[in-house]
Amino acid sequence: MPKSSPPVRPGQILELDVVDLNHAGEGVGKIGSFAIFIPGGLPGERIRAKIVTLQRNYARALLEALLISSENRTEAPCRHFASCGGCQFQHLHYREQLHYKREIVAGTLRRLGGLAIDVLPVLGMKDPWHYRNKAQFPLGMEGKKLRAGFYKKKTHQIVDLQNCPIQHPLINRTFGIARALVEKMGIPIYNEKTHWGFLRHLVVRVSGSTGEVLVIPVTNGRDFPQGPAFAKALSARIPSLAGVVQNINTRRGNYIIGTENIILWGKSYITERLGDISYLISPGSFFQVNSSQAEVLFRQVEKYAALSGSETVYDLYCGTGTIALYLSRRVAKVIGIESFAPAVEDARKNARLNGVSNAEFFAGPAEEFFPQFVGQGHRPDIVIVDPPRKGCSEKLLTTLADAKPKRLIYVSCNPSTLARDLRFLQDKGYTIHSPVQPVDMFPQTSHVECVIEIQKV
Ligand SMILES: C[S@@+](CC[C@H](N)C(=O)[O-])C[C@H]1O[C@@H](n2cnc3c(N)ncnc32)[C@H](O)[C@@H]1O
Repeated sequence: MPKSSPPVRPGQILELDVVDLNHAGEGVGKIGSFAIFIPGGLPGERIRAKIVTLQRNYARALLEALLISSENRTEAPCRHFASCGGCQFQHLHYREQLHYKREIVAGTLRRLGGLAIDVLPVLGMKDPWHYRNKAQFPLGMEGKKLRAGFYKKKTHQIVDLQNCPIQHPLINRTFGIARALVEKMGIPIYNEKTHWGFLRHLVVRVSGSTGEVLVIPVTNGRDFPQGPAFAKALSARIPSLAGVVQNINTRRGNYIIGTENIILWGKSYITERLGDISYLISPGSFFQVNSSQAEVLFRQVEKYAALSGSETVYDLYCGTGTIALYLSRRVAKVIGIESFAPAVEDARKNARLNGVSNAEFFAGPAEEFFPQFVGQGHRPDIVIVDPPRKGCSEKLLTTLADAKPKRLIYVSCNPSTLARDLRFLQDKGYTIHSPVQPVDMFPQTSHVECVIEIQKV
């Protein structure tokens, strides 16, 4: 069949109707079956746009003018929304964000997995702002001026900001104080192009339940003469400061946090509480960034697990043991498997902190360790998987198909890999047993978390 050439060319300006949103939250316009993605466009709008990139099957365009505006459009409260890469949906009413996230999940499962599964309305937040409990602010210099904030979309240019409306208020306040001190004390700033300079990032973590704050200056080296004075000045200005920990990262590239920590003031962790469990959060540990919605998510996992109290539960990709420990008091035994060894250390610490004695955690790849457990005759009643965005490996899915737990609960932060993995499991004899329950862990962004329960009868 002859290949037709794309119906647009770079630089072309055209009028388009926006008919949908893609998984990245960009408006979608169509010329026949050819898709044009327009960041900032909303369904129902007529726009003027300029084609900026062209691929064989689609193009990307810059929104130049709104000719007919959607009634669901709202004023983005953040003045950096158009340039900052953090949020995609501030211009869309929150109830519509939830509506589209549900559509995105259902559409992805249908398109990529061939799966017609019920998708429940997304569990959203009453107040979808100020929810993030962790921020990583890169620093740089523009001439003699400090720039600190977030990266501009798809670049490493820093959007200089004072306040981010999705961060916990304590993060914004702490960041303002810390960046002013950095300037006043003349702490040398890192330059990622030359790999020279010292202070790379300011990471701030807070606990929603206790209000504790942890400040982590990430440095390109160990010698930090201003460190103790910087930490002391922070402690004088932030009453709920729990600690200031210097993190050393001398690697080039995009890794933010290094492996070595030096306590400059106070403690090296904060404590967060979800349900009846307390969790220690140290500088590098993974923790869900939205604490109140994490509880909503875990309650949903518990609901789908339908526990009787006698079960052995496997929590695969368990991070710091968050889900395993959350369920531990309502089951006979929990076993967590996680590849990042320091997270496993945290999980064990968290078990001790809460007096949990029926939890065991193992450091290693789930696709190696879980088959070994099953091979040794262990029979899990319930398996929970919460993999990273790339989803589960085929080896793990194959073992899951053979192990036949009573219930398999899949927690996913990426509908595309969820669709692929559910298709695989369905082809191996699993039946989808529940509707998909999306949970909005990341309001104002296009990301969405999902939980589903499946069984092999
Ligand atoms: C989405 S997080 C889930 C964390 C945890 N369930 C929670 O709610 O805090 C995914 C985790 O999988 C871990 N991971 C990535 N690949 C893995 C693998 N092959 N085997 C085990 N764990 C892995 C990551 O280190 C990360 O902690």
